[in-house]
Amino acid sequence: MPHGPASPFVIAVDGAAASGKGTIAGKLATHYGLPHLDTGLLYRAVGAAMAEAGADLDDADTAGRLARALDLGRLGDSALTTAAAGEAASRVAALPEVRAALLALQKDFASQPGGAVLDGRDIGTVIAPAAPAKLYVSAAPEVRAHRRWLQTSARGEARTEAETLADLLKRDARDAGRADAPMRRADDAVLLDTSLMSISTAFDEALRHVEQARRRWEALTG
Ligand code: C5P
Repeated sequence: MPHGPASPFVIAVDGAAASGKGTIAGKLATHYGLPHLDTGLLYRAVGAAMAEAGADLDDADTAGRLARALDLGRLGDSALTTAAAGEAASRVAALPEVRAALLALQKDFASQPGGAVLDGRDIGTVIAPAAPAKLYVSAAPEVRAHRRWLQTSARGEARTEAETLADLLKRDARDAGRADAPMRRADDAVLLDTSLMSISTAFDEALRHVEQARRRWEALTG
C-alpha cells in the first residue's frame, strides 16, 4: 500500500548536476509552501569537512564519522557551491558509510506530516520511494556545462566551458556507476528534459506534472 491517509505530500526531484533540478525544487517548495532540502549540500558539506580534516576523500571511516557529526548549520556556506566542492561531494557520496550516515536525516525530512520537497540523485529510489510526486530532470551535457560555466565564471572560478563539460561527464559517470544508491530515474518518475526550456517553462512543466500527481494523491488519501 503506497499511500495511507497520513501519507505526506512529498515531491522528489532527482537529476544530474546542472539539470535545473535544484531551481525547480526550490520553486515548487515556494509554490506549495513546503520545506525544501537540497540533499547535495549534505554530501558537499561532508566533502568540505574531509578537506578541513586533511583526510583523503577515499577514507571511508573518517568520512562516515564526519558525516555522522555533520553540522547542518553550515549548509548555507557559499564555499559549498564551488565546482571543487561538487567534485569532493561526488567522491564521498560513493562511500556507503557516508550514505548510511545521512539516510535517517533525509528520511525524517521526507516524513514531515505536512509534506516536503527534496532534490538529489536517489530521492525517488531510496530516500522517499513512496513519494506521490517524482520528477527526474535531465538536460543535454553541453547545455548543462554551459549553464554551470555561466555560474562559475560569474563567481570568478577559472574553469573553461570544455573543462566544465569534462568535469560534469566524469561526475555523471561516478554518480550513475556507484554500487550504493546510484543516480537513476525511478520507474514512476516523470522525465523532464530541460535542454530547450527557460527556467520559467521548466517550472511550468514541472508544476503541471506535480499537480496531476497531487490530484491522484488527494483522491487516494481522501
Ligand atoms: O546536486 P549536487 O551537485 O549538489 O550534488 C553533489 C554530489 O552529491 C553529486 O554529484 C552526488 O555525487 C552527490 N549526491 C548524491 N545523492 C544525493 C544528492 C547528491 O549522491 N541525493
